Parts: sequence; C-alpha cells; structure tokens
Amino acid sequence: MPPRKIIIDTDPGQDDAVAILLALASPDEIEVLGITAVAGNVPLALTAKNARIVCELAGRTDVRVYAGCDKPLNRALVTAEHVHGKTGLDGPVLPDPQMPLADGHAVDFIIDTLRAEEPGTVTLCPLGPLTNIATAFRKAPDIIDHVQEIVLMGGAYFEVGNITPTAEFNIYVDPEAADIVFKSGKPIVVMPLDVTHKALVTKPRNDAFRALDSKVGNAVAEMTDFFERFDKEKYGSAGAPLHDPCVTAYLIRPELFSGRRVNVEIETGSDLTLGMTVADWWGVTNRAPNALFMGEIDADGFFTLLTERLARL
Ligand code: RIB
Ligand code: CA
Repeated sequence: MPPRKIIIDTDPGQDDAVAILLALASPDEIEVLGITAVAGNVPLALTAKNARIVCELAGRTDVRVYAGCDKPLNRALVTAEHVHGKTGLDGPVLPDPQMPLADGHAVDFIIDTLRAEEPGTVTLCPLGPLTNIATAFRKAPDIIDHVQEIVLMGGAYFEVGNITPTAEFNIYVDPEAADIVFKSGKPIVVMPLDVTHKALVTKPRNDAFRALDSKVGNAVAEMTDFFERFDKEKYGSAGAPLHDPCVTAYLIRPELFSGRRVNVEIETGSDLTLGMTVADWWGVTNRAPNALFMGEIDADGFFTLLTERLARL
C-alpha cells in the first residue's frame, strides 16, 4: 500500500516534536507533504523555528516548513510556556535551524497542496490550535473535498479540561476554528486527553529512549523529562503524556487505539465552558456522529512502536 499523504499542522511543543519525528521515521506508511506551523504552545515565530529544529534533528532538511497564523480567528492568543518552557522546546540544547522557512503562508500551502492532489487523498494532522486549517477551509471551501481524513489531537470528555475545567488547550485557544473543522463534514479521528493521558512516559519508557544512545533518542528523553514536570505536579501522573504522537501512531498502527463514533460539537458561546468538546457519548441527541472519539490505547504497543521508529533516525 502506498504511504498516506499528510500535512502536519503543529505548534511545537515537545510532544509535537516527537509526533513529527515519528512521522519522519515512517516513510513506508507516511509521506509528509509539508509542515505548517501555527501559534499555540508558544508564539508563531517560535513554533515555526521549532518545527525546523525538529526536521534538522531528524536529518530531514528537505521537508518544507511554512509559517501560518499568528493568532486565533477571533481571539487573543493564549500560550502555554508554563508547560513547554519559554522556547517551546525546553529540555535538550538543540542548535538554531539553518534550513529556511518555505516561501509563502501556511494557509496557501494547505490550499495549493490539497488542490494539486486527487480528491480524498490527503490526511490533515493538526497537533495544535485549528486556526490554519479553519482559515484554509474558509478561504477555499473547494479544498474540503480533497481531504481524506482529519486526524487531530484535541479535546477531552471524561478526562475533562487541562487549560480550563472543561476545555483542552488546542480547542480552547481557537474554539471558532475548531467549530469550523468539526462541522466540515470530513471524517475526523480525535485523540483527546481521554486517551493521551494514558500514553505516559514512565521512567522505563524514558530509559528506553536514552538506551537508543542517539542524538534523537537523547533529545526525546530530555524533552519528555522537561515536559513531564507540569503533569506530574498537577495530576501526580507517572510521566509526561505524549499527546501529539498518538496522531502519528494512529496513522501507522490504528489498532493501537479504540473509541466510539459520536457527535462532537464545540462550545463557542459560554465563557464558563468555552472550547469544550461536547461529545454525545450516549447518543442522547439527534445530532449525527461526526468523529471517531478515542478513549483507549495499547500504551505498551504505542511505546514499542515509537522507540523502534526513533531508532531509525
Ligand atoms: O492539550 C495538549 C495539546 O496542547 C498538545 O497538542 C500540546 O502540544 C498542546 O498543543
Ligand atoms: Ca501541540
């Protein structure tokens, strides 16, 4: 089977970085058409820089990285330096990127690339706020038919919120953008906190990264060592939740995950619950299912896959 063509839309972020590395280490399953940076964990200038740092770490300076939207559609940007550090990639000491940004805006790259590919053949993999994706859909609605599937990290239901009591960060930062994407009519696979909080980098798993004894293995171990302190303190968890790599792992081994097709709508009106992913888990409304909302993961299988693939870089 040919590799799946994807666009990674991202706000690196240590967990975004691991998701990108996993994708770049899996060319038989994944063809990365390009990476589009969006403001999220840290401002756009840093997410666009960090995406290139990760490509160079993977030895893939051929990958085109585009800068996208620097703020949400209708709101001020909310960032997460308290989780990711002021650079967004705190932990390892990595050199500034030598590779330049690709020319042009990320939104135009998304539009042009989707138009150039056959209908239904490109998977969008948003790992941050959905501003770039929603802007592209609004600017060029014809491209929506060219999307095969949207596999995104975002949202929460039984796990509740991580940035407010009810909302997960990616959705909370740009709820209007999320609303556009979830109403696009395209198949959506959602990796919410319900599943990503079960993908924890415990010490043995972090030791396995270090045991690779490689630039990539050590960098990932140092990123997750830094990234875990926030969640350990807040949740008492056994390690860093690897949110975004769940998206990439799903593309490679979907059987690692299970969930339920439900209707998911986004709260955009109430300040109290802004950005909540309202998942109709028990089908109590007549709203049509629009998303495969994941809840379970084979965590050992996930980390075995991840570590094996990182060893290739
Ligand atoms: O809530 C977790 C998500 O927000 C992850 O994608 C993390 O990188 C941040 O973007
Ligand atoms: Ca992210």
